[in-house]
Amino acid sequence: MKFVSERKRTHYAGQLRREHAGKDVVLMGWVDGRRDHGGLVFIDLRDREGLVQVVLDPNQAAMSIAKDLRGEYVVALAGQVRERPQGMRNSKLPTGEVEVIAEALEILSEAKTPPFMIDDEQVGENLRLKYRYLDIRSARLGGFLRKRHEIVRTVRDFFSNEGFIEVETPILYKSTPEGARDYLVPSRVNQGTFYALPQSPQTLKQLLMIGGMDRYFQIARCFRDEDLRADRQPEFSQIDVEMSFVDQDDIMAINENLARLLWKKYHGVELGPIPRMSFAEAMNRFGCDKPDLRFGLELQDLTKIAGGTGFKVFDDVIAKRGVIKGLGVEQAGDLSRAQIDKLVDLAKKAGAKGLVWIKTDAEGKLTSAVSKALPEAKLREIHQSLCPSGRGLSLIVADTFDTACAALSSLRLHFGRELKLIDESQDRFVWIVDFPLFEYDAEGGRWAARHHPFTSPQNHHMEYLLKGEDSRYGEILAKAYDLVCNGHELGGGSVRIHRGDLQAAMFKALGFSLEDAKAKFGFFMEALTYGTPPHAGIAWGVDRLTMILCDTDAIRDVIAFPKTAKATDLMADSPSTVSRDQLIELGIRLAPGVGETQAPKAEL
Ligand code: AMO
Repeated sequence: MKFVSERKRTHYAGQLRREHAGKDVVLMGWVDGRRDHGGLVFIDLRDREGLVQVVLDPNQAAMSIAKDLRGEYVVALAGQVRERPQGMRNSKLPTGEVEVIAEALEILSEAKTPPFMIDDEQVGENLRLKYRYLDIRSARLGGFLRKRHEIVRTVRDFFSNEGFIEVETPILYKSTPEGARDYLVPSRVNQGTFYALPQSPQTLKQLLMIGGMDRYFQIARCFRDEDLRADRQPEFSQIDVEMSFVDQDDIMAINENLARLLWKKYHGVELGPIPRMSFAEAMNRFGCDKPDLRFGLELQDLTKIAGGTGFKVFDDVIAKRGVIKGLGVEQAGDLSRAQIDKLVDLAKKAGAKGLVWIKTDAEGKLTSAVSKALPEAKLREIHQSLCPSGRGLSLIVADTFDTACAALSSLRLHFGRELKLIDESQDRFVWIVDFPLFEYDAEGGRWAARHHPFTSPQNHHMEYLLKGEDSRYGEILAKAYDLVCNGHELGGGSVRIHRGDLQAAMFKALGFSLEDAKAKFGFFMEALTYGTPPHAGIAWGVDRLTMILCDTDAIRDVIAFPKTAKATDLMADSPSTVSRDQLIELGIRLAPGVGETQAPKAEL
C-alpha cells in the first residue's frame, strides 16, 4: 500500500460535515491535542480550516505509531468519516457532528513542545511575536490574515470594475514628504548616495496622472520612521488611489461606495450617507480631527464665562489669545483625589500645563482645585455649564487652542473607555473636510504642510498663497478630506496642485529654497510643466481598515509579521548589525560606539 503521504489530500480537516459521513478521506495537518481513552487515542487534527476529531486504534498494526503522537506533530492520515453518536456531538465545533476513524497514519514531521499553547490568548505578546509562525496557526490570527486577503481582494475587484488600473511603483526611490522621517537605503554602486523608501507613492501617482493613466490604484507598501502607536506601524499598506479630471466630491463618492461595499460584506450593515464635518467643528466639539462619534462628552468653550474673573491662570491665557475649554463628566462626581491626580497627569502628558477641576458629590457639595482662587458662585456657574445637572466632574484646561484640545480630547477618550460609553455595536463614520492647508511649526519657526505639499488650497484662498501673504497662511483652507471611523483616520487625501506656479509658491511657503526644491522635487516640478490634468486622490490604510473590520484594536493583529513599538522584529531579531565588509562595500563608517553591539532587544 502507498504511504499516506504519497496520496493526495482529499479534504481540509476543518471542512468535514455530516454530509461527508461514510466518505474515505486523506487529511494532513497538525496534532492539536491528544487524549487516551481505554486503548483508543483521540486527536484533534488541525489545519487552516479548523479541527476535526480523529479516532486512532494503536492496537492495529498500521496505527501503532499513534501512541507516539505529540502536540504540533505534522501527520498524514487516511480514514473514514463517521457521524458521531448522539450525545457525543460537540456543538462548539463546526465539525462537531462527525469524527474520522483513522485507518493509516504517518508522521511527517515531529515537533518540539511549543513555547505556548496555540490558541492560548493569555500568552504575552512578546513571546507570541518571537514565535509568530506558531501564533499564525491559531484560529484568531490565521482568521485575521484570511480576512485581510478577502478585504484586499474586494478592494482590487471594486477598483478594477470602476476602470482603475493597478500600477506598481518603486520601493527604492526618493524622499516623498508625508511628515515622517525617511528610511534610507545606501547605494553600493553610487557610494555616498541613498535611496529613500517611499512614505507613500504620492509623487509617483501624480506622475501617473501626468502620464495619462487617468484612474490608478495600488495596494502600496509605505515606510515611515515615526513614533509608533496602537494603530501605526513603520511599514504598512495603503489602498492608494488617484483620478484625473475630478473634484473632491467625486473622490469622496467613489470611496464612500467602497466603504459601503466593505461594511455590507464584512460587517453586515448598510452604511447610510457618510456625514461631513469641518475640521474647525471637529476640533471645537471633540478636540481632535478624528473624533470617535460613538459617544458624546463634547467639549465646551468657557472663554467667555471663565475669563475676566481675576483668576490669574485663566486671565493670562486669554491675554495671550489662548482659550479656556472644558469637559463635563456627570457620571464621575465620586472620583477620589488620587483618581483625579491621574487625570491631571493625563492632561499633562498631552501637553497641558495643568488641569483645573470642579467636583460635586451626590449631596451637591462642591470641591475644586481652585476653590481658593475663584468664588464658589463662579465655580458653580462654570460647573453648571459643563454638568447641567449640577452633579459630576468638570475638567478645564486654559492653554493654546491646540493644547487645550489635545488634553481634553485625551480625557474624553479616557472617560469614553472607562465609563463604557462607547457603543461597540456600531461603526461611526465621518468625513472631516476644510482642513487648514498649513500648520505652524513653532519650534522650527516655519509653516509646514498639514497634509502634504501637493495639496491644493481652496479657490477663494489661492491668492494668499500665490502672493506669498504669509500673515494669512494660517487662514488658508485646503481641498483635503479624511475618512474617519470610530476615532481612527482610515484614509486621507486631497485635490492636488496641478499648476506649476502654485506648486512653486507652495514650496516657497514651506521654506524650501529654489535649489532645495529643485534638488528634491525638480523632476516633479518639471513634469508639471508638460501638461498636467487636474487630479485628486486618497489613500486608505489597509491595516487600519482590516483592524476595524476584524473588530480588534491592535494593528499588529492583522499584519503577518509586524514590528514592535520600537520598530523591531522579535522573530528575526531585526534590525541587526551588519559585517564590516558590508559597510566597507557601501562606503559607510559607523560613528564611534555605534553598532558595535547587537541592536538592543526590543520591548513592546
Ligand atoms: P496619509 O499620510 O494621511 O496620506 O496616509 C493615508 C492613510 O494611511 C494610513 N497610515 C498608516 N497606517 C499604519 N501605520 C502608519 N504608520 C500609517 N500612516 C498612515 C492611515 C492614513 O489615513 N499620500 C497621502 C494620501 C493622498 O493624499 O492621496 C497619504 O499617504 O489610514
